[in-house]
Amino acid sequence: MSADPIVSLISRRSIKFVQGPAPTDDELARILQSAVSAPDHGKLEPWRFVIIRDAAVQQLADMALGAVKASGQALPPEKEANARRWLHNVPLLIGVACHLDHANTKIPEHERLLATGAAVMNILNAAHMLGYGAFWSTGIGTYVDEVAENLGFDPLDYRFMGFVSIGTPIQSTAAPKRSDYSRFVSHWGAPG
Ligand SMILES: Cc1cc2nc3c(=O)[nH]c(=O)nc-3n(C[C@H](O)[C@H](O)[C@H](O)COP(=O)(O)O)c2cc1C
Repeated sequence: MSADPIVSLISRRSIKFVQGPAPTDDELARILQSAVSAPDHGKLEPWRFVIIRDAAVQQLADMALGAVKASGQALPPEKEANARRWLHNVPLLIGVACHLDHANTKIPEHERLLATGAAVMNILNAAHMLGYGAFWSTGIGTYVDEVAENLGFDPLDYRFMGFVSIGTPIQSTAAPKRSDYSRFVSHWGAPG
């Protein structure tokens, strides 16, 4: 890992296929402390995390894929097999939800979701900086209410936002080619 924090940010990429070892409890604490250091309009602290480790990952796979099927959503056998193949080696999942906090009418809902997304970005970066591979997925039943409910998030009060898998990369993968930032940037205003 580079000592230059900007190089660390630029070299981050998602790594889906991971195995143990997972981050230690101390490392996970640092990852989650990074998450709650995300920007947060109104100090609503909307982010919620559920830790799913080791054998519980397989229980999660059974619960979530079962709930997807029970919901009537199509789950072709090859898609289920792919999900199970992926999760078979994953040593740590973090389920992420956003507290909607209907009592607060000052901060728009999308800003809570953005704050929670920023928290996930900090998780991805912290995991990368510690040498782990991490990947954010909204597969495995993220949009099935029963999955969120089983994880403790009543859909009336929370928006479930998916799972971050974290572990040791199974293979080394080349960093993807990123677009040059200048494609997305314009300048406004008279130069001073
Ligand atoms: C909110 C969110 C949900 C995502 N869900 C999935 C998913 O379910 N399946 C998937 O293959 N990639 C998903 N991705 C994309 C990967 O997490 C990853 O960003 C992508 O593979 C590009 O890799 P990179 O982060 O190295 O650019 C999701 C990304 C975001 C931001």
